[in-house]
Amino acid sequence: MSKKVFVKTFGCQMNVYDSERMTELLGAHGFAATSEMGEADVIVLNTCHIREKAAEKVYSDLGRIRQVKTQRRGEGKDTIVTVAGCVAQAEGDEIVRRAPVVDLVVGPQSYHRLGDLIARTRAQSRPIVDTGYAEDDKFRALPARTAGKAVTAFLTVQEGCDKFCTFCVVPYTRGAEFSRPVADVEAEARRLADQGVRELTLLGQNVNAYHGLGADGRPRPLARLIEQLSAVSGIERIRYTTSHPRDMTDDLIAAHRDLPKLMPFLHLPVQVGADRILAVMNRKHTAADYLRLVDRIRQARPDIALSTDIIVGFPGETEAEFKATLDLVAQVGFAQAYSFKYSPRPGTPAATMSDQVPEPVQIERLHRLQAHLAQDQTSFNSGSVGKSMPVLFERQGRHAGQLIGRTPYQQAVHAPAAPSLLGHIAMVEIAEAGPNSLSGIIRMGGSGQA
Ligand code: 5AD
Ligand code: SF4
Repeated sequence: MSKKVFVKTFGCQMNVYDSERMTELLGAHGFAATSEMGEADVIVLNTCHIREKAAEKVYSDLGRIRQVKTQRRGEGKDTIVTVAGCVAQAEGDEIVRRAPVVDLVVGPQSYHRLGDLIARTRAQSRPIVDTGYAEDDKFRALPARTAGKAVTAFLTVQEGCDKFCTFCVVPYTRGAEFSRPVADVEAEARRLADQGVRELTLLGQNVNAYHGLGADGRPRPLARLIEQLSAVSGIERIRYTTSHPRDMTDDLIAAHRDLPKLMPFLHLPVQVGADRILAVMNRKHTAADYLRLVDRIRQARPDIALSTDIIVGFPGETEAEFKATLDLVAQVGFAQAYSFKYSPRPGTPAATMSDQVPEPVQIERLHRLQAHLAQDQTSFNSGSVGKSMPVLFERQGRHAGQLIGRTPYQQAVHAPAAPSLLGHIAMVEIAEAGPNSLSGIIRMGGSGQA
């Protein structure tokens, strides 16, 4: 293989998955992956449009890429610069106008055509923009999945969103909800397991709205998909993300009690704690609904670790309404959380609301919120000290003789361990806890269950 491709991923786990699939696809077209942009014949930026800062990063990267392309041209080498992902979908032709260095714009629903699009771009001198929605199942058009040496893998089972929260671009960039058929997901899971993957994270923008068709042509909910994947030999752990509170059905809650391979960790975005803001956000639930749901989930699986997304400074948010978010955070006690300043996104209803919150106020609220969240995360981690937990070892640590793995609650753990334990679960007694990771000592070898 002489041609090379460099892929850079921005944003969420679904983009990480898409980047892997694009790399595999281009591999089938004769491109080897490289981590050196300067030696790449094809550069792919797989972009994120969720907040303004993420989207703008792409343009600063494109500035640097222009220099790389010019230098390569001086050496007699062509470079095809590709913008993929959600900025591609949202901005289309505008990207080529703003950054003429770009040769190809390809949306998240058309990247299975990437090989042909690159060949066409080579043959013609005008840029190509392909942001159409596939009529066929994109996943079926991709080459079979490869896992490399990974112990854990993402597996996209659902894409798109029909919820239309008023702040969010996802329904516009990723389109309507779509679920992959059960048999296709299962085949991909088996392939990954055969290659050594032990943990699957099922992905979807609204993963718990999954309703892929079963063998009988009838839709199956996420709980049934997880049950079926639990039977795939080699797969020891299953996770899923991201879920909407409205789609947290009884059968999925029960799955957390009944399916031992389903890990006791749930990412369940709440966004804010004030009912008025939740309504303007079109979240379709109140703070009390969320708290009741948390109770029901904890009844089914008392040790479950909860994680969330929170937005501060949504248009019109008062100090009292922000305090309602702090109250909700205090009531739930999240093991982990992501928090953001509200960022107006083009084409979304909230962007044109008149009462935008000034940035200094947003920043101040974000700091206050993050201080609480950090405290909760630290105390959750401290609670692990002295306990023995099953850790799935995923990769080498920074120090010799050390491996890094995760507890069932998704905490990273460092432990002295033989490389042969990679891909295995061992009982680790947690000795120390930091804000972002734990460390401990192996108490029992083997691959016991979580
Ligand atoms: N501004 C700030 N945060 C946002 N998110 C989505 N849209 C915006 C926006 N316009 C956050 C939400 C979502 C997470 C993926 O990103 O919290 O759950
Ligand atoms: Fe965006 Fe809301 Fe859909 Fe999540 S549920 S992707 S926040 S519109």
